[in-house]
Amino acid sequence: MAKLTLMRRLMKLVHPEGIPWPASVFYNALSSSVIFMKHYELAAQDILSHCSHGTLLDIGTGPARLLLKLHQQSPGMRLVGIDSSAAMVTQAKQNVAEAGLSEFIEVKEGSASSIPFPDQSFDIVVSTVSMHHWKEPTACLNEIYRVLKDNSFALIYDIVSDTPKDILNEIKRECGRLKATMFWLNSFEEPFYTRQNFESFAQSSLFGKGRTQFLGLFCCLILKK
Ligand SMILES: C[S@@+](CC[C@H](N)C(=O)[O-])C[C@H]1O[C@@H](n2cnc3c(N)ncnc32)[C@H](O)[C@@H]1O
Repeated sequence: MAKLTLMRRLMKLVHPEGIPWPASVFYNALSSSVIFMKHYELAAQDILSHCSHGTLLDIGTGPARLLLKLHQQSPGMRLVGIDSSAAMVTQAKQNVAEAGLSEFIEVKEGSASSIPFPDQSFDIVVSTVSMHHWKEPTACLNEIYRVLKDNSFALIYDIVSDTPKDILNEIKRECGRLKATMFWLNSFEEPFYTRQNFESFAQSSLFGKGRTQFLGLFCCLILKK
């Protein structure tokens, strides 16, 4: 089990997992900025290089911008998003409806710790910038294992507190210092994990192991069932 700092333990104890209203409205606006859209694009390409057929689940889908991006690039996939915040689900449904894609993208309320789908429902499970909110990451990874089909991937992208300096400098060069800092607002309520924490969660889960790699500012935990 990864060692967590006292501050993280306290934050996790008092802080709700889901992003409530009106923070959901603020996050929706923030997520349409260039640096967020660039990372949805990077994640979508990476996801489709692992699996571009069948049914995908996005956990902590927030405003559903990743699902919208995935539909653009792979319109044949069935896309499902869950989020533990009712306010975020409302926001996501509105974004999906405005894009005219309600018949292709399903969004519903649900938590990573109790995924509202039967065993082996998904060909791939993904998540962006949500794991640092999860109170019991290892238990959530076990839930992901349950709903994944055999020989399938889970790709969990989040920002880590020990992102290498050269990656930070590259993003600052590309997007500007201010926009790069905006991404860090994600850790305003709860601090990020480290890359080592990610791998420890994987080791103590049913997956048994996982490896990490950087994709822009995202650190991706790659898990195979
Ligand atoms: C920082 S937002 C990221 C949203 C989206 N994935 C993105 O990249 O823009 C984190 C989201 O995870 C959701 N969340 C937090 N804990 C969760 C949990 N245990 N299960 C499902 N969703 C959760 C929050 O409500 C929020 O919408």
